[in-house]
Amino acid sequence: MEPKHFLVTGGAGFIGSHLVDALLEQGHTVTVLDNLTTGKLKNIAHWMQHPRFRFMCGSILDVKLVDRLTAEADSIYHLAAVVGVKYVVDDPLEGMLVNIKGTEIVLEAALRHHRKVLIASSSEVYGKSNQVPFRETDNSVFGPTSIPRWSYALSKALDEHFAFAYHRQRGLKTVAVRYFNAYGPRLDPRGYGSVVARFITQALTGQDLTVYGDGQQTRSFTFVQDTVRGTMAAMSTPEGEGLAFNIGNAHETSIEALAHQIRAIVGADVDVIRVPYAQAYGSDFEETRRRLPDHSRAVEILEFRAKIPLDVGLQKTIAWFEEHQDELIST
Ligand SMILES: NC(=O)c1ccc[n+]([C@@H]2O[C@H](COP(=O)([O-])OP(=O)(O)OC[C@H]3O[C@@H](n4cnc5c(N)ncnc54)[C@H](O)[C@@H]3O)[C@@H](O)[C@H]2O)c1
Repeated sequence: MEPKHFLVTGGAGFIGSHLVDALLEQGHTVTVLDNLTTGKLKNIAHWMQHPRFRFMCGSILDVKLVDRLTAEADSIYHLAAVVGVKYVVDDPLEGMLVNIKGTEIVLEAALRHHRKVLIASSSEVYGKSNQVPFRETDNSVFGPTSIPRWSYALSKALDEHFAFAYHRQRGLKTVAVRYFNAYGPRLDPRGYGSVVARFITQALTGQDLTVYGDGQQTRSFTFVQDTVRGTMAAMSTPEGEGLAFNIGNAHETSIEALAHQIRAIVGADVDVIRVPYAQAYGSDFEETRRRLPDHSRAVEILEFRAKIPLDVGLQKTIAWFEEHQDELIST
């Protein structure tokens, strides 16, 4: 692909910073727009002096700033969001404002300047559907509006609706990627509640690994390099425009099995214990039992499938946590 200038919203975050690495390594120019709420400067510090890199500290809710940066770029990776169920349960209003209004601002700027936009969506849009594996055309099954937890899933589903309406009605080039539990170096243990980060931190600090519920719920853990590869494939494939794609590992792992695997790799002398959901998230929490992507659309149209096995990805992630243990614990 010829070198392009990409605007990456949320580029100081976990997935965003790995995307920035890959784009710059491939010779592209990158502008990051991030307000550093959950993102960190140290995730992108190694690029700060690079001539093809620019960091703008600001919000996607700043209409003028988004408009200017969009005009200057060729295409937009829109990853900025209030991420994860835990943050949204704590502050659903902020989550909806950033995830819905912010995305609308990005899409409108893209339309004004005729730029292609990739929207970072989530496996959460399938809600508590038990029709597994999830296909992109399946129904979403959300819980009641009295439970704030579902506002994150709904905000991401609405982002997709917005993007596809702009595509169908106004001709905007857009694509959505539904991420399934990305993990890897730079995961924030104090962040939105990644279970991988929590288990690794507990194991490295000699604490018991806390499994919520019965631990038999499953997730499809996807190493972040695979996540980024799928994201870039979605952006660069014209046939994918107007569609959503599952970007995830086609293998599911129970949370309890994950805990045992991490404990074994770290070699920690700790227990794996069960904690009721209510203790972790409050009494009205609703959990999704299984989350597994059907990856056939991504394979057929994007020629993408996740490749990195869980044990390999976990070893790399744990090695990174070991290297950064002091700063992770002290900050
Ligand atoms: N990590 C996953 O497994 C996963 C799963 C599903 C979906 N996603 C989606 O992928 C995207 C990236 O998530 P992540 O895991 O890297 O989380 P992250 O929290 O590390 O990244 C989100 C980034 O957005 C920034 N941000 C938040 N509000 C902003 C605002 N108003 N203006 C500018 N920047 C703002 C944060 O500072 C952060 O850098 C998000 O859209 C998220 O919803 C992630």
